[in-house]
Amino acid sequence: YAAAQAPRATPWWRARRDELVALGSSGGPRYVYDLATVRERARALRAFAAPDRWFYALKANSHPAVLRAIADEGFGLECVSLPELERAGDIVGGERLLFTPNFAARDEYEAALARGAFVTLDNLHPLEHWGESFAGRDVILRVDLGVGRGHHDKVRTGGAGSKFGLDLSQVDTFRELARRHGARVTGLHAHLGSGILDAAHWREVYAQLAALAQRFSRIESINIGGGLGVPARHDEAPLDLAALDAALAEIKRAYPQFALWLEPGRYLVADAGVLLARVTQTKRKGDYRYVGLDAGMNALIRPALYEAWHDIANLSRLDDPADTLYQVVGPICESGDVLGTNRRLPECREGDVVVVAQAGAYGAVMASHYNLREPAQEIVW
Ligand code: LLP
Repeated sequence: YAAAQAPRATPWWRARRDELVALGSSGGPRYVYDLATVRERARALRAFAAPDRWFYALKANSHPAVLRAIADEGFGLECVSLPELERAGDIVGGERLLFTPNFAARDEYEAALARGAFVTLDNLHPLEHWGESFAGRDVILRVDLGVGRGHHDKVRTGGAGSKFGLDLSQVDTFRELARRHGARVTGLHAHLGSGILDAAHWREVYAQLAALAQRFSRIESINIGGGLGVPARHDEAPLDLAALDAALAEIKRAYPQFALWLEPGRYLVADAGVLLARVTQTKRKGDYRYVGLDAGMNALIRPALYEAWHDIANLSRLDDPADTLYQVVGPICESGDVLGTNRRLPECREGDVVVVAQAGAYGAVMASHYNLREPAQEIVW
C-alpha cells in the first residue's frame, strides 16, 4: 500500500501544473478531478483481505465520471437521498445500492425498496408508522454505539446529542416491531464519524456490532461505516492501511459468520480533486496581507464550517520562495469567507492561478450559490 499511504512527494497536481495554469487562467473557478488517483485509492482498499463488500459514500463526490470509475473498481454505491439513488441507479443495479438516509420521508424508503437497494433504518418511526412498507423486506439497523469520532464536532455521528442511529436501549423494541410487521433484520450498521485516522477504530465497531448481532436471529452483514481519514495537516500521520487490513482480517477471523461491509467516501476522492481559482486582488491592512480569489466559501465551505485545512499553492509561481504571509480569502460577503489563514506563499499578483488542494471530497457537493456566485464547475482528467 506504499503508494496510497506515503504522503506523496509530488501530488498529481504539481506534476500537471502547466496544464492547470492554462486551464485556470480563464473561465472562472474549477474543480479538477484526477481519475487515476480515484482508481488508485479504490484499488488499495479493494486489495484488503477481509471485507466482503465495499460501498462508496457518494455524498463525498457525486460526479458521474467519478462514480463510474469507482463502480468499475467493484464498489457498490451508498446513497442518502432519492436524487443520489437515482444517480447511482444509472450506474449500478439495485443489488449494489445501499440506502442509509437520516430522517428521510416515507416515499424515499419505498423508492429505495422498489429499486432493490439495501435499506438502513436508524429510528423506530419507520416501523411504527409505515410498517406495511417493510413487510416481507430485509432491513439493516443502524445503531448509535454511544460515542462519535472524527476530525470535527460537526462530523461526529454518535453519542448523546447526535441525531443518528438507534439508541441501544431501543434495540429490542426495534426487533419486536420488525417481527410484528414481517420485516427481517439482516444487517447491523454503525458509522461514528468522518476523518478517522486510527486503524483500530473499525475493529472495535465490528466487535461491538458482532456482539449485538447475538440478539437477532438472522444477521448476515455487518456494516462498520466509512470515516477513513486522509491527513490534512502535515503533522498528521496517515491512516495505516496495512494495519487496518490486518485489524479487519483479525476481527473477521473471530466472527466469520457475518459479511463485512464498509462505506468510505472521503478516502477515495479527497486527494483526487483540487479547486483552481484566480487571484482577483491583493491587499494590505494593518499587519495583514490578503490575497483574494474568485472562489470562496460558496465553492468550498469546509474551512468556514470545520476550520478544515487545505494546502494552498500559487501554481503560477510554484518555484518562487514562499516568503509572504497571507490570509487567503474569497469574494463572498462574510467574514468567514477564508480558505486559508497565515499561509506562506510567493508574492501573489492579480491573475495568478492558485490551487486549493485535497478538495475532491465534500467540495463541489457542498457548494452553494451564495451571493448569486456560480460555484466552481467540475472537470475530470
Ligand atoms: N456512511 C455514513 C452513514 C455517513 O454519514 C458518511 C458521511 C459516510 C459513510 C462517509 O464518510 P467518509 O468516509 O467520507 O468520512 N462534510 C464533512 C464530512 C461529513 C460526512 C458525512 N457522512 C467534511 O467535509 O469533512
